Amino acid sequence: MKDELREEIDRTKKLLLAKLSQTEDKRSLLRSLELRALYERIPELDLEDRAGFGQMVNQLKVELTALINAQPQEELSPLDVTAPFGANVPLGQRSSLLESSLGSIHPISTELNRICELFLSMGFSIFESREIDDDFHMFGSLNFPEGHPARDDYDTFMLEQTDHSGLPLIAPAHTSSMQNRILHQCRDNLSAGLPIAAIIPGRVFRNEDVDARHEHTFYQVEGIYVAKNVSIGNLIATLKTFLEAYFRKANLEVKTQPFYFPFTEPSLEFSLSCPFCEKAGCKVCSYSGWIELLGCGQIHPKVLEFAGIDNMTYSGFAWGMGVDRLIMMKWGVEDIRLFHSGRLDFLREFSPGGA
Ligand code: DAH
Repeated sequence: MKDELREEIDRTKKLLLAKLSQTEDKRSLLRSLELRALYERIPELDLEDRAGFGQMVNQLKVELTALINAQPQEELSPLDVTAPFGANVPLGQRSSLLESSLGSIHPISTELNRICELFLSMGFSIFESREIDDDFHMFGSLNFPEGHPARDDYDTFMLEQTDHSGLPLIAPAHTSSMQNRILHQCRDNLSAGLPIAAIIPGRVFRNEDVDARHEHTFYQVEGIYVAKNVSIGNLIATLKTFLEAYFRKANLEVKTQPFYFPFTEPSLEFSLSCPFCEKAGCKVCSYSGWIELLGCGQIHPKVLEFAGIDNMTYSGFAWGMGVDRLIMMKWGVEDIRLFHSGRLDFLREFSPGGA
């Protein structure tokens, strides 16, 4: 083998040995550019040099690996990955927390309050959702038969603890899991001649591939209305009135398309004309002029029956609206992950006077 090839390997060896004492992540030397360059030389060499050169490079890697393994292992101090703030950083080195007086209300809370105010003014009551629920409320009471494929659309997180039927408790994938409770709790309204009119804001969970438009944790506002002779026309008018007030825009156009939910019949997907471009096409509506906003429909007679409501006398409508989507649209937020990012620059955009 030519001398200059031996020298080339020697030079690299010296260089790597010198680096060994200075580099903190010693294993990274095995992936270093210098070592890689030697391997890349092998196919370029004349046939008579190739095997010898290859063996020497391999030998160098073996020596280097042995040296790295012989280095005393650095003791790592234990780390609590669940600890908040700088709990893993020694006291004197922690960055100071912001004064809480500089804090501001999170944009989701501000918008949820606004949504609640509007529905209150329309005669709806507000009920709180819950963050752990059971199979009956998540599926059974909503007319999802056991093992029905529609359950797959609501794949969420389960707890190890079980409910009284031995089924795992669930982090609810939609606020519809509250429907049965509210219908049952308010059913005396109906005999008193009053409607059931309620919204249920809440946090919901899904087993999602997270990206700019999908989060594993987000917010919904469920709405239910039950009385005598309630029609889909009432549903559309209610949602249109709310959306025009929320976007401060008169004459929004809305359209519905048939859809499927086990708990409504008929089921609809509800879209509104883009409040930003008046259907001319813009970024917010992906140049379609329309924004798909929520699922809704006429409450399925079985759902009323499960809650003890006479479905021959009463009918109703319901909807489930994604709050994060609504806020993203209203404020031009392009990435849903920002809401839970805790990024101050993002939060400051919603609280000019705050932190
Ligand atoms: N729960 C549904 C979802 O998250 C949305 C929905 C559709 C809610 C129709 C309703 C409804 O109340 O009637 O996909």
